[in-house]
Amino acid sequence: MAADKCPHFEKQQPILKAMDEADLIILTSPVYVYHVTAPMKNFLDHQGHRWMVHRPRPEMFHKQAVCISTAAGAGMKSTNKDMQDSLFFWGVPKVYKIGIAVRSVNWDTVSPKIRQKIDQAVDKTAAKILKNNGKVKPGIKTKGFFSVMRMLQSKGGLSKPDAEYWKAMGWTGNKRPWK
Ligand SMILES: Cc1cc2nc3c(=O)[nH]c(=O)nc-3n(C[C@H](O)[C@H](O)[C@H](O)COP(=O)(O)O)c2cc1C
Repeated sequence: MAADKCPHFEKQQPILKAMDEADLIILTSPVYVYHVTAPMKNFLDHQGHRWMVHRPRPEMFHKQAVCISTAAGAGMKSTNKDMQDSLFFWGVPKVYKIGIAVRSVNWDTVSPKIRQKIDQAVDKTAAKILKNNGKVKPGIKTKGFFSVMRMLQSKGGLSKPDAEYWKAMGWTGNKRPWK
């Protein structure tokens, strides 16, 4: 389906524009039964058309992103992976993850030790982001997947709008969304 056919197209536009223009994308969710919350899942579902198998945005192939999840006890790994999966399939080459169990159900009762751990993890990730700002490029996994999708789109893709988009971007020819 073309993105503008979505009944929520108008609401999605400012979010998509902000993401396309951003240097960094931050996706964050508390852990709900080992996964992202329903609102975050809803958000990710709306970006399905931007997966490499459909019509990825060229801007995504130069960005960094962070997935942040917190839980009372466990499930940060699978929750961060929910968000990381979309970022990878959108084409984002560099994704950092911060997952911390806060041993609490509200911020006021989070211990000083855990707050310090959060600060340290955030500072460490922020330093890496600053260092890599403007320098990230897709690795072998992204390039390999893109190349498989390119073959698929050259043969007509999963839908006509997808195949037409890839052709218009020049990606079924020699052009690539990265330099
Ligand atoms: C529906 C629901 C499911 C949850 N599932 C988990 C879980 O699988 N693992 C866990 O450690 N904490 C779980 N929690 C605890 C939350 O991760 C934690 O309380 C978090 O701070 C909630 O953020 P919120 O107040 O923004 O909703 C769950 C909480 C809710 C409400």
